[in-house]
Order: sequence, then structure tokens, then C-alpha cells
Amino acid sequence: MLPAAWDGRLRLPVIAAPMTAVSGPDLVIAACASGVIGSFPTHNAPSVEVLEQWLGRIRTELGSADLDRVPAPVAANLIVHRSNARRDADLEACVRGGVELVIASVGSPKDVVAPLHDAGVLVYADVASLRHVDLASAAGVDGLVLLTAGAGGQTGWANPFAFVRAVRERYDGTIVLAGGISDGAGIAATEVLGADLAYLGTRFIATQESLASPEYRAAVVAATLDDITTSRQVSGLEANVLTSWLQSREAASDGAFAQDRLLAARDVWAAGHSVSGTDDVPAVADLVDRLEKDYQSARHPLGDVTASERY
Ligand SMILES: Cc1cc2nc3c(=O)[nH]c(=O)nc-3n(C[C@H](O)[C@H](O)[C@H](O)COP(=O)(O)O)c2cc1C
Repeated sequence: MLPAAWDGRLRLPVIAAPMTAVSGPDLVIAACASGVIGSFPTHNAPSVEVLEQWLGRIRTELGSADLDRVPAPVAANLIVHRSNARRDADLEACVRGGVELVIASVGSPKDVVAPLHDAGVLVYADVASLRHVDLASAAGVDGLVLLTAGAGGQTGWANPFAFVRAVRERYDGTIVLAGGISDGAGIAATEVLGADLAYLGTRFIATQESLASPEYRAAVVAATLDDITTSRQVSGLEANVLTSWLQSREAASDGAFAQDRLLAARDVWAAGHSVSGTDDVPAVADLVDRLEKDYQSARHPLGDVTASERY
């Protein structure tokens, strides 16, 4: 179930997922204007002041855009782990900046739920196991982002079919499915499974509005899922990255480049299994048009006919 306040604002049940060094204001504005939830990690802004400027720009540009619907909600990803010294200041900036949804990752969301709810902001939390689900649910979050095998960046390991069904049995809030979704068929399958929203990261690396370098975008377009490696070397947590990037870093640093600080890992070429469905670098608006067309034909494979007409 999605909040009633979002009625009519989403063209597709999709969040353009937050990505370190990839998602910034341009991507968020384009996503929200196109009718999918736009998001970015607050740590992509180099300071709290810049974060405030970004949120101000997003608000102004979406407010003045000539759209035929109210723009989709803006979401911010907040790393709630204690290593994030900006956590509380970023949270306050999000509240002041009109963010409607905060996605808590890397750590327990319990400290951020009350202040965000008091300010009327929804909170989703990343989860990768049923233990995480129970902890996040007890902390009172409004939704869960299920990280599953094959997701870009910090990944999960659960099978998406089994994970969504297991979570649906014990949780009736919003479920977002993350990992391996790049097209309309994947978005439609997300709903069939019982989740409410699909979380697409890798597919949005290769867009005109992403902050990724041309070389990184080209590598994502060229890669297939056989070119992805799960590694702990970036941050100590399991993350999916392009194998070619990992090998070049290993060669350059003799295997000793592991960074102990999660937020320092900015030049990583992270990507997930959905590189196989990422074959070009469109503008976000064109990508969302295509996703919607594919989604409609996945939901209605025989066209707009009723079951009785088909037989
Ligand atoms: C390049 C890259 C950077 C990412 N950075 C973050 C991040 O800063 N915070 C976060 O919560 N998730 C991050 N993720 C994970 C995504 O938000 C999302 O869970 C994932 O991309 C979904 O799987 P997909 O890539 O198969 O679509 C990142 C993913 C990628 C590919």
C-alpha cells in the first residue's frame, strides 16, 4: 500500500534508487518530473550547506515545472550508521528542505524514525534478512527496501521471490524490491510478487542526468551480468561492482585498497546484474516513457482486452 498523499503522482511504481556519486539534483528533478520517486544519498552533497542548496533547487525547479501532474515525491537516503558524522544535521536539512521520504541505510533506523515522523516525513529502511525486517518493523518504519541478490552497490543475498513472499507474510507496510530490475517486465513482476514499488539503481547510472563519468556509463552499457563481482574490498560490506574496475584497482594497488570508511568510497564503479538490461544512455524522461510502455505490455501482454474476449 502506498500513502494516499501520493495518489495520482506516480506514473509507475518506481523509485530511482539513491547512488553514491551518481544521483544528484538533476537526476532527482528529472525522475520526479517524469512521475517516479527521485532520490539521492545526502552524502553526495559535500557539505550540509550544499545539501540545503540542492534541496532548494529541487524544490524550486519541480515547483515551477510545467507538468500535467503533481511531481512524484523527493526522497533522501541517510546513512544512519554512527560513522556518519553528518547524520543529524543532514536529517534536519531534509526536514527543512521538504523531503517527503527518508530511506535509512547501513544501520538501525530506530533513532531517526521519531524525529522524522514528528516532522511528517515517511521513513523506509534497507533490509537484507528477516532479522533486519523484524528490527526495522519494531522501530516503526513505514516501508522496507528489500535488498536482494544481484543489486548494485551494497547488495543483499536473498532470492527476491522467496524474500518478498516471506516478508509479506509478516509485514503489511510498504515493500520496495531492490535488485536486478531494469525494465517494465521487472516492475510488473514486483507487483505480482506482492511488493509495492520497484527500486531501480543500475539502470539509472546510464542516463543523461546521472553524475557518473562517460567512461563509467559506457562500461555499464557494455557489461553483462557475467561482468559483475561481489566484493568486500570497497567498504567491508558485500557490494556488487564491475569486475573490470575491481581488477584495475587491484592491479594498481596490489590488492591493498580496501577502504575502512564507507562514505569515502566515491570513485567505485558499482553496478548490479541489471547491467544486462542497460544498453544505452537515455534522458530520464525517455527512459521512464519506455519503462511505462514495457510495464503496460507486461501487465497486458495480449493488449487491452478482457480475459473473456481472449478466448
Ligand atoms: C553506483 C551505486 C551506488 C550506490 N550507492 C548507494 C548509497 O549511497 N546508498 C544506498 O542506500 N544505496 C546505494 N546503492 C544501492 C541502490 O540504492 C539500490 O539498492 C540498488 O542499485 C538496486 O539494485 P540495482 O542496481 O540492481 O537496480 C548504490 C548502488 C549503485 C549501483
